[in-house]
Amino acid sequence: MAVAPDTSTMWTRAFATRAGSDEEGGLAAILALAGATDIISFAGGFPDPETFPGRALSDIFGRLIDSGDPSVLQYAPVKGLPGPRDFISQRLERLEGVRPADDELIITSGTIEAIELLSKSLIDPGDLVLVEGPTYLGAIMAFESYEANVVAVEVDEDGVDVEQLAEVVARLGPPKLFYSIPDYQNPAGITLTEERRKALVEVARKHGFLIVEDVAYRELGFSGARLPSLWTLAPDVVVQAGTFSKTFVPGVRLGWGAGPKEIVAKMIWAKQNTDQCSGALGQRLLEEYGRSGGLDEQATAARALYGRRCGLLMDALQAHMPEGVEWTRPGGGFFSWLTLPESNDGTDLARKAVTDGVAIVPGAPFFPGDGGERNIRLSFSRVADAAIDEGIERLSSLITLGKKGHR
Ligand SMILES: Cc1ncc(COP(=O)(O)O)c(C=O)c1O
Repeated sequence: MAVAPDTSTMWTRAFATRAGSDEEGGLAAILALAGATDIISFAGGFPDPETFPGRALSDIFGRLIDSGDPSVLQYAPVKGLPGPRDFISQRLERLEGVRPADDELIITSGTIEAIELLSKSLIDPGDLVLVEGPTYLGAIMAFESYEANVVAVEVDEDGVDVEQLAEVVARLGPPKLFYSIPDYQNPAGITLTEERRKALVEVARKHGFLIVEDVAYRELGFSGARLPSLWTLAPDVVVQAGTFSKTFVPGVRLGWGAGPKEIVAKMIWAKQNTDQCSGALGQRLLEEYGRSGGLDEQATAARALYGRRCGLLMDALQAHMPEGVEWTRPGGGFFSWLTLPESNDGTDLARKAVTDGVAIVPGAPFFPGDGGERNIRLSFSRVADAAIDEGIERLSSLITLGKKGHR
């Protein structure tokens, strides 16, 4: 009689090396936690639905369908529909002072797809990719799935340490790319200073490597002030990857890549067999909403909302955290990064916190190698104002004591 195969080991043997063994971890775990409704969640980097346009979108949707314009429901060109491309170019020109040429722009299905397309286009197994330590977990996962050798460069409150980056490049050779989140970084909430931005692009020019600038939170500075983007400073060596997830709605899955035409051409090549094109319906909704001024109004309201939440979080941390806990004071975005006293472990704390009805994300997954064991990330973007103090009080009671302060 034939013995039934053990399918679990059969599938494990079938997996490609790049698929790794961490199905339970990564973004899926964070997204699952963030969806819980019965806990106070400082977990996922979700925009608050309070910022989403409701009526305005349904009016635009009705008008688009009534117009009979077939492009709304049809496949789109790989690089995006002409109208939305023109809208995004104009918007970049207004906000960044630079309009990408036609061959310097691609519409993507969110920033995560831009990162995926760049990885697919640039990374061979073993290639060096430099990132900030800590950095966005989704980017680490994408680079590692292409079997890159991902190495972190330290950050401090002024962003990535550019001198250390230059040393690493001198020691290991130029990377295929350096991935940076200069504005209100995920997870640390820090912003790269103007001086360091200028120094960074000069290192990339000198050694001839690409900088991938992720501007996911750039439009969410609480004061409305903006430092020059890396792409504006050096369009010759920078691809800017942007998203409409945090300033419009993640439900449309839309973003852009703007950079050197040779790189954008490869991204368009790579997109042909990821999703072939980003959804036309979402592109047209975005365009119409944006051209009517909706995006600007929404960004203004979002900045006020997240600025208020951040203030409440800072007050709660100051009021409740035991001595020895340090935290960053973000000028925008969604996150503050906490460093715990020595006897604590971020992953243990996250586990204990869930049983006390509070969700947080431990720091370790935000590093490609070791690091972040004594860190946690708090997101203030989608926690109700009234729950912030209670959540932090509960969390602080689980931390083993040290000395008070902030970074
Ligand atoms: C730094 C950063 N980049 C990209 C993304 C994902 O953006 P998108 O929804 O456009 O894929 C996030 C979302 O959490 C993020 O924090």
